[in-house]
Amino acid sequence: MNSTTESGTTIAERVEALLGRMSLAEKIGQLNQVGGADFAPGPKAEDQIRAGGAGSVLWLNNTQRFNELQKIAIEESPSGIPLLFALDVIHGYRTIFPVPLAMASSWDPAVPEQSQAVAAKEARAAGLHWTFAPMIDIARDARWGRIVEGAGEDPYLGSAMAAAQVRGFQGDNVADPERVLACAKHFAGYGYSDGGRDYDPVYLSETQLRNIVLPPFEATVKAGVATFMSAYMDLNDVPASGNHFLMRQILRKEWSFDGFVVSDAFAVGNMLIQGHARDRRDAALRGIKAGLNMDMSSYTYPENVAGLVADGALSVAEIEELVRPILAIKFRMGLFEQPYVDENRLAEVLAQPENRQTARWAAQRSMVLLKNEGGLLPLKTDLQKVAVIGPLADSMTATEGSWMVFGHEPAAVTVLAGIRAKLPEAEVSYAPGSEIRRDIPSWFESLMAGYTGEPPQTPEESESAFQTAVSTARAADLVVMVLGETALMAGEAASRASLDLPGRQEELLKAVADLGKPVVLVLLNGRPLSINWAAEHIPAILEAWEPGTEGGHAVADILFGDVNPGGKLPVSFPRKGSHAPLYYARNITHSPEGSQMYNPRYWDGLPVPLYPFGFGLSYTTFEFSNLQISAPQVKVGERVTVSVDVTNTGEMAGDEVVQLYIHQKWGTDTRPMRELKGFERITLQPGETKTVAFPLGPDELTYWSTNANGWIQEAAAFDIWVGADSLASLHGELEVIG
Ligand code: NOJ
Repeated sequence: MNSTTESGTTIAERVEALLGRMSLAEKIGQLNQVGGADFAPGPKAEDQIRAGGAGSVLWLNNTQRFNELQKIAIEESPSGIPLLFALDVIHGYRTIFPVPLAMASSWDPAVPEQSQAVAAKEARAAGLHWTFAPMIDIARDARWGRIVEGAGEDPYLGSAMAAAQVRGFQGDNVADPERVLACAKHFAGYGYSDGGRDYDPVYLSETQLRNIVLPPFEATVKAGVATFMSAYMDLNDVPASGNHFLMRQILRKEWSFDGFVVSDAFAVGNMLIQGHARDRRDAALRGIKAGLNMDMSSYTYPENVAGLVADGALSVAEIEELVRPILAIKFRMGLFEQPYVDENRLAEVLAQPENRQTARWAAQRSMVLLKNEGGLLPLKTDLQKVAVIGPLADSMTATEGSWMVFGHEPAAVTVLAGIRAKLPEAEVSYAPGSEIRRDIPSWFESLMAGYTGEPPQTPEESESAFQTAVSTARAADLVVMVLGETALMAGEAASRASLDLPGRQEELLKAVADLGKPVVLVLLNGRPLSINWAAEHIPAILEAWEPGTEGGHAVADILFGDVNPGGKLPVSFPRKGSHAPLYYARNITHSPEGSQMYNPRYWDGLPVPLYPFGFGLSYTTFEFSNLQISAPQVKVGERVTVSVDVTNTGEMAGDEVVQLYIHQKWGTDTRPMRELKGFERITLQPGETKTVAFPLGPDELTYWSTNANGWIQEAAAFDIWVGADSLASLHGELEVIG
């Protein structure tokens, strides 16, 4: 359909003109998202598209095929409405960036923003219009596998990272041909599943929902996000995809969201399995009534909505209301003018050197130095014999991390390759040790390129690989151990009960440490791990997460001191899986930790984090001083400025993340003992001092109160801390009066 055939000039007028010509079947078609992968059910994609029965196609990653299908939509379907091609481009299309949890560890919104801008450029050149990202579920339970896809435990940090990703994907204008539509997911509460078990029900009070879970979603609306995805699970006994309160009350009414909502995969139909809908017809009815625009491949909408209208259970106006924002976005993107992708451009875009440069920079900024005893790091480049040991040391898939599916070919620089590139003269040996595997395989394995379905190692093979690793380490002067989790040990359907290093990795670490050589531990993982033994016995530990295509180079840049690490943890590290959920922003109890009457929370080991939220070291040292609050007392609604001087007291230039925490000392509700309300990552030369200032006012001090059943800012006293992590000790006070 060409724009010149549309009467009217505004998008709204064009939408109305088009709607006026569409049949009911075509309107329902716009609400249907067709699965392009083999595992997806439903009639042939071509047939659905030709009949005007498809608004969007997902799970397809084939530039030529996009044009073929688009041609059918434009030339053969009744109204010629272009399709939206959608895929999970979560942390990179071809150039892979650190996983979102890692990007959040940068505490620098420029990292996700610039990374997702490259991802958008590549994906769009491939013919995609829409990515199912950012995933912005707050996750406080490290057992939950999808913690890797989000920004961790904190709503303030999470909001900053969420908005940055939307800016990166969408830019200022969705008509930009180098950008894609973003999708804020999973709305809402998915990270709070019982026991951290993926998909399990979620029970959240309104205060948790509004103060913790929803702020990142609202931040994406403010950043102009085009779409939302409803979550799978029950929220307080109502499936998120049929949840009126979430989609109509909060999203549309309170936040004035004008984009559209797609369900998670098959989620509308799943309301039947979940025991909410009576049948598929009822599921479709519930989805539409709740304001869910697009049915992701469950086909309950195309199968039932026309009948529901014929029966009078739904009106045409109700359908049109859900179609409008979908058409509007297609107009806003300029798809009616340019529905096709230039198939000759992709290779050139993927080859642009800045893509990989951005990936290396993002990975460098995302890594967190957890320990560096005796200044073992940075290492000298005149090392002669280095052993790189561990099952992940040369694993491209572990380096790239989660979501590398739909034909993606792994192509990462591994840690081994990165170290070899850094030490061209040295002898760098390698042994993987025993393989690691999930006890129960992942369904997603079969979607990964290069999946062979090989059987696991026998005990003999495992033992022999273990011994080879020890003897390889024995022959070296220094050992870099690369341990953690494979890509499929975190992510969707990848929750676990334990947070220990899987398999025989800790045993190998102990055996290598016993050799008495300097050992550096590099972790590749998508969730916090309970590395208690390593934290005590291994002198240097670098949390590299799943760092992406350039990950191995970035690790080597840090290990050898070309880059000084400055990332900080966006999640607390529990000492064991059974301590989860564990997070810093807890309420103070009647028996506070450390008080005389303190009853230990558990008598078999205190649930104090191994590493606290916000923690991370540098090769230099910083000092915080001169905490200033611009006024000791303010009225409700007024603002103060909190400032602090930060000095680099070491010998090397480095980054510090300055963090502001508050605690409201009393109030209508009890408030958390600490809450992050400001942060800034700064670079300081040796001896340099910078003053960092944060505003503190109604935006930071207002909260949703159970007792008041609404948003309030109160007259109360506040503790204020500024420092390098959530245990910051530099303290001041502010009094807010009525
Ligand atoms: C299921 C996942 O929960 C969601 O995050 C993803 O975007 C969809 N499948 C589409 O692949």
